[in-house]
This record gives sequence, C-alpha cells and structure tokens, in this order.
Amino acid sequence: MGLSLEGAVRGLHHITLVGGSYSVNHRFYTGLLGLRQVKLSVNQDDIFHRHVFYANPAKPTGSTITFFEWPHLPVGHPGLGSPHHLAYEVKSLEALARWKCFLEAGGFKVSGPHKAGGIVSIYFRDPDTSLLELTTSSEDASEQFILDLFNTTKAPPHPDSDMQLLRFHHVSPIVADAKLAARFAEKFLGLEMVEITSNPFNPENPLVLAGEPENTYLRYLVSQAAETGYVGRGSIHHVALAVESDEDQKKMLRRLEKASIHHSGVVDRFWFKSLYFRDFQGNLMEVATMGPGYDVDEPWESLGSRLALPPWLEGARQMIESRLAEQDKTSADAYPPNPPEPPETL
Ligand SMILES: [Fe+2]
Ligand SMILES: [Fe+2]
Repeated sequence: MGLSLEGAVRGLHHITLVGGSYSVNHRFYTGLLGLRQVKLSVNQDDIFHRHVFYANPAKPTGSTITFFEWPHLPVGHPGLGSPHHLAYEVKSLEALARWKCFLEAGGFKVSGPHKAGGIVSIYFRDPDTSLLELTTSSEDASEQFILDLFNTTKAPPHPDSDMQLLRFHHVSPIVADAKLAARFAEKFLGLEMVEITSNPFNPENPLVLAGEPENTYLRYLVSQAAETGYVGRGSIHHVALAVESDEDQKKMLRRLEKASIHHSGVVDRFWFKSLYFRDFQGNLMEVATMGPGYDVDEPWESLGSRLALPPWLEGARQMIESRLAEQDKTSADAYPPNPPEPPETL
C-alpha cells in the first residue's frame, strides 16, 4: 500500500494519442465508438495541427481521449516510452458482447473475449493501429457462460446507450523494471494502491497495478526484454493524471525537483494547467489540473462544435484555419479502414 502524499493524483485526466486524418479519426471515435467531441483545438506546441478531445458525453473526467493530428508521421510501435494500449470500461458482459458483434459487422478484427484477473476484455485497433481494449467485470461468470453469450449475441445497428464507453479502465505503459515502476507510482504520483503481481496473459512477466484500491488505472506491462518504442501514428503520446488544484500541481512539481527529475514547469493550456515529465523508464507523463474545464469558453450544449483556440492564439485564427483546410485536402481519408489484427495475447 502506498503512502498518502499531499498533492497526490486523483485518477486519469486524459490520454493523448497520435492520429492520422482527422475526418477518419472523428468518424471512428464519435460515429462508431459513441464518444462526444468535447473540444476541437490545435496542438499548442504545433499550432497548424489539430488537437481533438473525445469523451463520454455525460462524464468527461477520466474518459477523455485526445489526438494530435499528425498524418505525416509513420506508424509507431510500442516499447519503453511508447505505451502499449488503453482500456475503456463498459457496463456489462452483454454490452461487451454487443460491441464485439458491432465492430466485426463494421469490418474490424476483434480479439477475445479474454477472461483474466476478474475482468473480461476484447481488443481491436483504431484506423491508425492504436490498440484499444473494452473491458468489464467478469462478475464470476464461467468461461462457458461468456462463450455462450458471445456466440448468441447479434450485432445492433448502432451502439445503444447500454454500450456507452464509461471511463478509462486502465492504460498500460511498458517498463523493464517492475520495482522502479512501483516506486515511481508510490513515491512521486502518491498513488494509494501499488502492487506487483503477475501478468495473467504471460505469467512469467510481472504486472504492476497502480491507482486506487478499486481502480488500478495504471497497469504497467513489465518485460526485461522490452526495447525502446517509437512514438508515431497509432501510439499513445502521453498519459495525463489529474490533480484537484494548482496547489496540488505545485506540490508535485516540488517533489519532482527534489528528486532532480526534469520537468516542463507549469504550462497554461487554458482549459487546464499541465506539468510534463518522464517517468524513470521513459514514459511521458502529464499532471493536469481538473479546472477550469472544457466549458470555460463555450457552453456545454455546443462543446466541441467549433475550432476553439486559447485567447493567445485567437490572433492567428485565420492563418490556422486556412492551414488546417490545406492539410485536409492532402491527408488520406480512406474509410472503412483496414488496420492490422489485434494481438491474441498481451
Ligand atoms: Fe489492458
Ligand atoms: Fe496532455
């Protein structure tokens, strides 16, 4: 059990990936997966490329997946510094079975159901090859019950409300050293629950679970043989953890400084404030404040419906919009996509 640190993180804030064509990405995450575009903006460090945010429409906190639109990048590959996959939680086994049928009917390859460690999961890839997992508690269901359920479920024409992606269940960075990952989660992130266990898919390799007792949202896949990854299209770029206040963020900053961990300093992103650093094994992490929030500059009802820019970029709006329009003419827009198959084991 971890220490109770001041200014400790309070779950996932957002997870940022690298995407290709915005129109393909948008169709997949809103049209197919049923998330809502809650912010359409630009990458503040690369202002002629979009930064788009999707989330559970009812509860963006802990469910926001964001994309840097970089269609010119080659496809990345997971490894040290390039996390393996992320998982969304769904309500029930029935919902999970419907997702598998629905995705397969749409031409996507789906791996699973896989039952391990008290959860049942399916895996598939988005159009840019990002590996996604949908998961739910196995509720002590037998393997046979799960197989029968998946074999008898029919694909719905559209995802129904029971199939809503609720929140992130976990994200899985890759690390080479389990103890180092556990120490980082405990001493720097201040996570309450940190445990080294074994990977149910690959029992000789450890798995580090970190988060809260009922919500271990960081699940580090450990492999001593892991090689350095490459962040490209389809990769998880960084994982952002939430802190409640500016004060809590400063406490985190002081903790990083005390340990001589290089960091970005606090960066005002307008909708939240960010602090970036790398963990001991190369993964880019962010600690972001809960506020002011995505609705500080546009009403909740029309969130994400127009290009939103922080005040300091408004002067460049015309130039930004014309560069984005140029880019849209050249970025590939094939749909439905044909991503490679998901792996059978993790
Ligand atoms: Fe997973
Ligand atoms: Fe971020």
